Order: sequence, then C-alpha cells, then structure tokens
Amino acid sequence: MMRKQIAAANWKMNLSLQQGEQLINDLLSKPHDLKENQLAVFAVPAPYLMMAQEKMGTKNRVAVAAQNCYSKKSGAYTGEISVEMLNSIGVKYVVLGHSERREYFNESNQFLAEKIDISLSHHITPIFCCGEPLQIREEGTQNAYVAAQLKESLFHLTSAQLVNVVIAYEPIWAIGTGKTASSDQAQEMHAFIRAELAHVYGKETADQISILYGGSVKANNAVELFSQPDVDGGLVGGASLIADEFVAIINALK
Ligand code: PGA
Repeated sequence: MMRKQIAAANWKMNLSLQQGEQLINDLLSKPHDLKENQLAVFAVPAPYLMMAQEKMGTKNRVAVAAQNCYSKKSGAYTGEISVEMLNSIGVKYVVLGHSERREYFNESNQFLAEKIDISLSHHITPIFCCGEPLQIREEGTQNAYVAAQLKESLFHLTSAQLVNVVIAYEPIWAIGTGKTASSDQAQEMHAFIRAELAHVYGKETADQISILYGGSVKANNAVELFSQPDVDGGLVGGASLIADEFVAIINALK
C-alpha cells in the first residue's frame, strides 16, 4: 500500500469566521491537482469546524480536522470538545499533542495516549505531533526525546490501530521561527521515527504510516522537504493562512 502524502493546514488561533470562509473559498477556487494518494487537511478553530465541514466535507481528497479534543466521551468538562461531537458533525481528523498544547496546557505523553485512544475508538484519525525543543537538539539527544514521545503515547496501540495514526515531526525550534530543519535533518529524524515504528510493529506497518514535517514549511522549501523519501508531507502553520502559499505546498506533495 502506498502511504498517503498529506498537506495539513494548522490555522491555530487565527482568523475571523469571515476571513476563514474567504480563505477556504480562495483555496477551493485555485487549481490544485491532488492525486489519489494525496490529501489536504484543514485544522480550523473549533467554532469554524461546521463551516469548513459544509464547504469541504463532501469533497474528495480534502478533509477537516479539529485542533484538539478531550480524553473523555462527555460530561462536566466545561470548554472541552469531545470526539462524539466531532463524530456528530462528520470531522474525521484531529491534531493531538501539538507542541503549543504540550507547552501552554501541560499535555503529557500519557494524557495524549488517552486522547489517541478515544479518537481511534471513534474513527477519528489523530495527527500526532512530536518533536524536540532547541536545548535537546543542541545537546544532540533529539532521537531519544522523540522515541520517548512515541513510546509513551503510541506504542500501546496494536498495529491495526497504529496504521490509522498520522505522525507529524515538528522540531519546536523550527515552529513559527522561519528556521526550517534542513531537508537532511528532517529526513534523518523521519527515518529514525520509521525505524522505531518498524522495531515495534515491523517494516510493513511502519511503511504505511505517513510522517509529516512541520516547522516553517513554506512554498519555497516544500518541494525540497517533501522530496525526501521519509517525508510524507507537512503540517503547516503560518503559510497555511495564505491561499497561494498553501496551494503551492499542496502541489509540492509527491
Ligand atoms: P509554522 O507552524 O508553519 O508556522 O512554523 C507549524 C506548526 O506549528 O504546525
């Protein structure tokens, strides 16, 4: 099976409803050629999920994602979004463990394991983010750091479950800084992640998992990054807010 190549937009906490609608209209009106193994995903703010779902929910090769969900099905958790709510509006993807959630909302690997479980049990594909801070990169211990994130949040899954997870490697020092990992640095980590997956689940399973790169992906570096054999697309923040930029990134998928 050929693994999916994915361009995922992460709007974060940006845009008004009107600006978001305009951006989606612009994106949908621009020529892009998503091939059969390619997918564009839009992680929009929660209040805009239904709008995005209405505009894109029935389109092929395009999907809407939530930027987060809670680890419990329902109940007295004021302000949280459940997977049942996402199911009820047809949203099929959720970004989990973004470094901003880990940092500002103290999300731990263990807590993320619970969110991964509840998402999978509701047929929602998690886009699981991992990646090291600058200090760890400078110490040269990024492989062990990312390996622990994978182990503690994902490696309790069966391989039948794991194949429904998308992984995004986002070195924190490259997010929103304009400083991208070089395509060699990205490939090196992506190959390491795939090897870790293969070690636990076997090569055949590891080869099915899409591993996206995130951190200052732009139209002008996407082709080079995505041309690496283990880089299966990108999770894109800043550049996903500009229609022309994001369309160019979609068209850079292999
Ligand atoms: P950036 O964000 O593209 O603005 O660096 C990436 C992300 O945080 O997903």
